[in-house]
Amino acid sequence: MPVKPDGAGQEADRRQVTVLFADLSGFTSLAERLDPEEVRAFQNALFETLAQTITRYDGFVEKFVGDAVLAVFGAPVAHEDDPARACDAALDMLERGAALSEKWAARLGRPVTLHVGIHTGPVVAGNLGGAAGAAYAVTGDTVNTAARLLAAAAPGTILVSEATQVLARYRFAFEPAGELALRGKTELVIVHRLLGALAEPGSARGLAALGLAGPLVGRADELDQLMAAFDRMQRGRAQVVSLVGEAGTGKSRLIAEFFTRLEADGRLAGTAVRRAVCSSLGEPTYGVFGALFREAYQVDPADSLDVARGKLAAGLRALGGRDQEAEAIAPVLSYVLGLEGETHPDVEPEQLQRQIVLAGRALVERRLEQQPLLILVEDLHWADAASVDLMRHVVDQLADRPLMLLLSHRPDARPPLAARAAQSVIRLAPLSADDTRALVAGLFGAPVGDALGKLKDFVATRAGGNPFFVEELLRSLVSKGVLVRQGDRWACTAACEAVDVPPTLHGLLLSRVDRLPADARRLLQEAAVLGAVFDEALLRSVATGAGAAEAALEQLIAADLIQPLGQWREGGRYRFTHALVHEVVYQNLLVSRRTELHERVGRALERAAGPHPERLSDLEALGHHWSLSADKPRGARYLLAAGDWARAVYANDDAIRHYERALRTLAGCQAGEAETWGARERLADLLGLTGRRAEALARYEAVRAEIESAGDRAGAARLHRKIGGLHWEAGDRERAGACFASGLELLGDDGNPIERAHLFQEMGRLAFRAGDNAAAIGWAERALAEAASEEHREAAAMRAQAYNTLGVALARTGRLAEAVDQIEQSIRLAEARDLLQAACRGYTNLGVLYSSLDPRRSIETCLRGLETAKKVGDLGFQSRLYANLAVAYCALTDRCEAEGVEAAQAAIDLDRRLGLLDHLAVPLIVLGQIHQCHGEHTQAFAMYEEALGLAEQVGEPQLLFPCYDGLATLYLDTGNPAMAEAYLAKAQEVCERAGVEPDALMVLPFLC
Ligand SMILES: Nc1ncnc2c1ncn2[C@@H]1O[C@H](COP(=O)(O)OP(=O)(O)OP(=O)(O)O)[C@@H](O)[C@H]1O
Ligand SMILES: [Mg+2]
Repeated sequence: MPVKPDGAGQEADRRQVTVLFADLSGFTSLAERLDPEEVRAFQNALFETLAQTITRYDGFVEKFVGDAVLAVFGAPVAHEDDPARACDAALDMLERGAALSEKWAARLGRPVTLHVGIHTGPVVAGNLGGAAGAAYAVTGDTVNTAARLLAAAAPGTILVSEATQVLARYRFAFEPAGELALRGKTELVIVHRLLGALAEPGSARGLAALGLAGPLVGRADELDQLMAAFDRMQRGRAQVVSLVGEAGTGKSRLIAEFFTRLEADGRLAGTAVRRAVCSSLGEPTYGVFGALFREAYQVDPADSLDVARGKLAAGLRALGGRDQEAEAIAPVLSYVLGLEGETHPDVEPEQLQRQIVLAGRALVERRLEQQPLLILVEDLHWADAASVDLMRHVVDQLADRPLMLLLSHRPDARPPLAARAAQSVIRLAPLSADDTRALVAGLFGAPVGDALGKLKDFVATRAGGNPFFVEELLRSLVSKGVLVRQGDRWACTAACEAVDVPPTLHGLLLSRVDRLPADARRLLQEAAVLGAVFDEALLRSVATGAGAAEAALEQLIAADLIQPLGQWREGGRYRFTHALVHEVVYQNLLVSRRTELHERVGRALERAAGPHPERLSDLEALGHHWSLSADKPRGARYLLAAGDWARAVYANDDAIRHYERALRTLAGCQAGEAETWGARERLADLLGLTGRRAEALARYEAVRAEIESAGDRAGAARLHRKIGGLHWEAGDRERAGACFASGLELLGDDGNPIERAHLFQEMGRLAFRAGDNAAAIGWAERALAEAASEEHREAAAMRAQAYNTLGVALARTGRLAEAVDQIEQSIRLAEARDLLQAACRGYTNLGVLYSSLDPRRSIETCLRGLETAKKVGDLGFQSRLYANLAVAYCALTDRCEAEGVEAAQAAIDLDRRLGLLDHLAVPLIVLGQIHQCHGEHTQAFAMYEEALGLAEQVGEPQLLFPCYDGLATLYLDTGNPAMAEAYLAKAQEVCERAGVEPDALMVLPFLC
């Protein structure tokens, strides 16, 4: 049962409304000239007229001031078409104002004229003032803007802001009226003059204005059912068919497609069709029947009763009827058409109703004698009860005739219940996610870039299978510039999440909430704070009226606003039927109330989870609610804990999300700097790990600068080291070396030993890559000596790396067995302490060492490494391991072609995508070798040439040598001994410079 709040007792909330200001031009001068009593009498008459007009469109008279009225459409109850209602009301006001002016002209001495300003926007609505004098009022800048529009409107005109015009232009004609500056604002309001209602109103639905038209998706069955009912009707069985579905599920669209199909099949030719669409303002008694009658006999709304009678008689005659029939019907015509006519004081209401039913039946019957008749009534939920009753009578009395009554309505309406005619109900379920995706794809065709997939997912989740919501979300994305047209295609310029509830849907969604009884509405709001999916027990523990929760939940389910999750409501979990409903309800709450409710939820969750929550979901929920409460730092702490939790299990994307949110929360409450450094560094670690190097670098640099100026030497040195690592990955070793050196300099001799050891280790690794094995061994040994006695994890991490560095340098100097020992030790230590990134490096190198000794073992090692790297989410090591795997596969010739090429290509793709220039040469060389081996010379040349370009930039012997060597043999293969000679010489030169035998580089390529 819909409840209609009068505003009193309703809690204040935030909502989008359309504000209308109207007043008399020149009232002040009038008041000066006239006697105050006259003025007052006129004012009374005027206010009554204005109030009546506003009420007619279900607006709210907020107040009268002087000669002005402030009306609100959309509060305390929202409608789906509030902006249009305001426009209708304004036009009506001008008309009635003119009539009033004429009536009063003699007493006032001159005509008076109204002018109006209208604007749509957000307000806070609710009772203002103390309990006794409290009055429902709206507050916000939207009201001021409407007042400015009023001030700018010339007498007899209606000025409308663009915000309103955009929402009402499907029904009204406007002309541009320039721009308006607002006090204290820089941006201008674009203004339109409302001219009148469009003779042929367009549809508020569809994206035709954007040049987009989508195909019908997912309603094949329903269409077939309609066709079948049509067939039955033609065979002489009257049919009542109801299409039932929430607003926007596609009732009208399905009907349109039904008619298109009938037309295409040529089956409509012999059938008469009558249509009526009910108005959202509600229909007067017999309004629907009247509309059908007007259409059938071409009676104009402006026609007098006599003209209408004439048309009726002529029409019936044309159908072969006798004049007596028209005469029998004539007396009730004024009722049906809602015209003033002769009254029948002696006719009882029941008698009158019988007469009208008889008339209706006679008219329909006459038509049916000529041809089958299809009567369509759209939006029956707004129909008048008398018409619905009439339709039922007629169809039941003509149950064996070719008559079809096709009705569309929302679930809260009652269709006529036929007793004799066949009746069927077609319920339009939400579109499936796949159909929704197909709808988006159908609208946009092939957009630029690969944005379509994300767009489809975004729309599918938010629209909940409602095609109207789909369209409005897309419209919003276009108007916000997220979706833009590029030539004859569309592109997505930003992430879709940045879009709020579309303004076109606000009223529609909120109207469903406003219809609820106060208790249910409050509970729904409280549930919205919990989230789109919520727990009944938790809701009860925070709800204001927990006792009434049971009944209220029932009401919410009945209103299709929420649904139990799972069968039989086990688990006591529910979800909002639509993501958009959830958002609207949440946004409807005052911020102060949201804040307070989030705190209540936070406390309830803390009670449930205990003092040390350990589950990720608890940490996330606590972080979410507290960060939206007044105690934001508390929220940030939970979010950081959630980030750490996710990071520990290598759920990197989740960890990044939590850290980012924690940082936003901290920024919002001006927390101490020191608190945020750790979070920023951890976030940067993850960004670097997942290939977002530039972002990682920027964050590290920012934190380093702050930490360094705060005097934390060890912290700053650590950041220098991490920054150096990133530069190195990008191929800039010089800069990497400089960073490590800066770190060491900062630490001095007495700084944190572990950090110093870390830096020694990095120096050693760098020396190794530059070909200086002796120095590498020296640095690694110093690192190990520095932290020999340290047992904690950070020291273990350093040692695992140092063993590795030592191992690879030993390998290069021919001490292979020792090398394997060191690297195996590194892996053991890393695995024991869950240092999986260090373990990845160990596997990578071990795979290389085995590749010539024992290819199968090498493959095994690489695969283990890959598994680890994938678990950690480390893309850099994944690429290295793929490259090594390719080498190992190639050692086993039977697997080279397929698996070898594939692995090498995977590494190349990763390196290119992540900009890992330091490594890209490696898989290029590997693939070059594979091509060469298979006699594919052109491809081999291309690989080597690209690799050589990269290798020469870094000058690393283990990269340069295989390029020169490969090119030399390739030239030899292709009959160019001179070039082969030249490259051979270069290869030798590299070996000499590095002080190693060519064999050392041949046998052990690419250690890291
Ligand atoms: N199955 C569908 N495939 C593609 N587009 C659809 C489909 N159903 C509806 N639409 C589009 O979605 C929008 C809303 O549909 P429609 O106006 O038919 O809804 P409705 O159920 O009649 O709503 P209301 O109750 O408000 O009248 C329209 O623009 C329509 O073209
Ligand atoms: Mg419709």
